[in-house]
Amino acid sequence: MDDGNRGRLTKDGIRIYESADFEGMRKAGKLAAEILDALAPLVLVGQTTGELDRVITQMIDEAGAKSATIGYKGYQHASCISVNHVVCHGIPGGKVLKDGDILNIDVTVIVNGWYGDTSRMYVAGKLSRKAERLIQVTHDALFKGIEAVRPGNTFGDIGHAIQSFVEAERMSVVRDFCGHGLGRVFHAPPNVLHYGRAGTGPMLEEGMFFTIEPMVNLGRPETKVLADDWTAVTRDKSLSAQFEHSVGVTADGYELFTLSPAGLFHPTYEQE
Ligand code: MF3
Ligand code: CO
Ligand code: CO
Repeated sequence: MDDGNRGRLTKDGIRIYESADFEGMRKAGKLAAEILDALAPLVLVGQTTGELDRVITQMIDEAGAKSATIGYKGYQHASCISVNHVVCHGIPGGKVLKDGDILNIDVTVIVNGWYGDTSRMYVAGKLSRKAERLIQVTHDALFKGIEAVRPGNTFGDIGHAIQSFVEAERMSVVRDFCGHGLGRVFHAPPNVLHYGRAGTGPMLEEGMFFTIEPMVNLGRPETKVLADDWTAVTRDKSLSAQFEHSVGVTADGYELFTLSPAGLFHPTYEQE
């Protein structure tokens, strides 16, 4: 089995991929992003999260790709769908979307052995003002982190950029879940924290592949996992949002592998 053993490892155990490997990540990232694009018109009041997951499973199948999450640590679905106060790892099922629900849909596909992992926010029906602000801040926080990606910066610079931006908006960054290295494997070093101090942590180098996926709460940062052992919710029941891109470090900055081909990464508030 190919365990991702290519390129070399840094002293922190972070794999440095070769320039030819970017092409594998582009293909995987593009499929994941296309699937999220195709879901946009299906996120409707009355729809179930289980039906959305069924469509995702079918799209992965039709593309001749594989779901990274089906069978991962016993998880049985092609997506995580996290509604309202669910922070992440919401299990798709019979839950019916109602007017004003906000949801993150997170899809990870495997294409020719490469992993593409991305998530974004959607809304069913009419978006409330406070949810709109949360989603905007979370989206912009991801990009604050992305803009810190360049050789010579550190992972702490990414976390610091995200945390300082979010807290200035009087929202909070979830500490209990983080981004991760990926490539020929789903989750690899490093843990990409969405908080931290500038200049700390491992140095970024060209050829590193990882996700940045901040979760932001309107209330306090604490989470708890429900009895299903997956669903993470805010302890104070406040709304939570998340966006995720798979990123590669280039010679002078970054490449986003999971950009939306249709330009739908940011939720389309403009509807109506
Ligand atoms: N896609 C998630 C991430 O961003 C992981 C989901 S694992 C699952 O890392 F098993 F819950 F699907
Ligand atoms: Co991820
Ligand atoms: Co993900």
